[in-house]
Amino acid sequence: MQLRQALNAAVERLTIEHVPSPRLNAELLIMFTLDCDRAYLYAHPERGLAADEMRRYDEAIRRRATGVPAQYITGHQEFWGLDLIVSPAVLIPRPETEHVVETVLELARLGEGPESQKRRTGVSAPRIVDVGTGSGAIAIALAKELPAAEIHATDISPAALEVARANAARHELSSRIKFHEADLFGGLPQGWFDFVVSNPPYVGESEEEHVQLEVRKFEPRNAVFAGPTGLEVIERLIPQAREALRPGGWLVLEISGTIAEGVELRLSGWSDVRITDDLQGIARVARARK
Ligand SMILES: C[S@@+](CC[C@H](N)C(=O)[O-])C[C@H]1O[C@@H](n2cnc3c(N)ncnc32)[C@H](O)[C@@H]1O
Repeated sequence: MQLRQALNAAVERLTIEHVPSPRLNAELLIMFTLDCDRAYLYAHPERGLAADEMRRYDEAIRRRATGVPAQYITGHQEFWGLDLIVSPAVLIPRPETEHVVETVLELARLGEGPESQKRRTGVSAPRIVDVGTGSGAIAIALAKELPAAEIHATDISPAALEVARANAARHELSSRIKFHEADLFGGLPQGWFDFVVSNPPYVGESEEEHVQLEVRKFEPRNAVFAGPTGLEVIERLIPQAREALRPGGWLVLEISGTIAEGVELRLSGWSDVRITDDLQGIARVARARK
């Protein structure tokens, strides 16, 4: 079968199964099967597919048609311009989470100016902990952007940490990030960090039916759901973050519109509390200073 025919048949199948963006998915999975880029697809529509290529493409399309996210089929997702390995042990990093990275960078780079150096020396080498690191997305992006930072990353899931370590190694950052298997902060030092950053589980079980079926069925439950209201992990994390931070240190959290009010309430007693929206206008990042 020719590439163009295989692609069109896959688009049709994914359309029938109500997979969103069927052409995009069909193209992504044929690029994965043939290990080529999109330009190659357009340049060689008449290329014949070998039996083995056809079998692998069929299998990828069959899995996608059952709802398996394309990223779990290809094993990859881009985050902050970096290619990350993903497996069903980790949440697929989302573009919204890049706002968390942006916020930390904005605050850390403010810290490099002469004004704040007067307030605290050594802030150009910030100490950062990423709580609930999953694939390592946030910790790895920050390690790339802040070459002098000391970075720790925790997760309660050993399988997720394995993926995070593999990602750090792929990007030659193994020596820059210390990974810890821990419930939130575990035994990390108190009063030490300049930044606590986290994209914790924050979806409430009461909202479950509004969550995309693919997320519910295929992404790790303990990465998505926090408990009945969605605030259960965050309400433990906020007081522990206060212990972990040095005075003047920042907490930067990914949140959702549903829990924004509850988060703000739990941040009373902190200074410089601010919640910012994502590109869809949904409350997405909460920051607060100890
Ligand atoms: C929403 S995912 C975020 C993953 C990654 N940071 C990202 O932004 O793509 C939440 C992560 O927190 C971890 N987690 C859940 N409860 C935890 C806890 N009590 N302590 C540490 N990690 C936890 C999950 O295993 C999961 O990897």
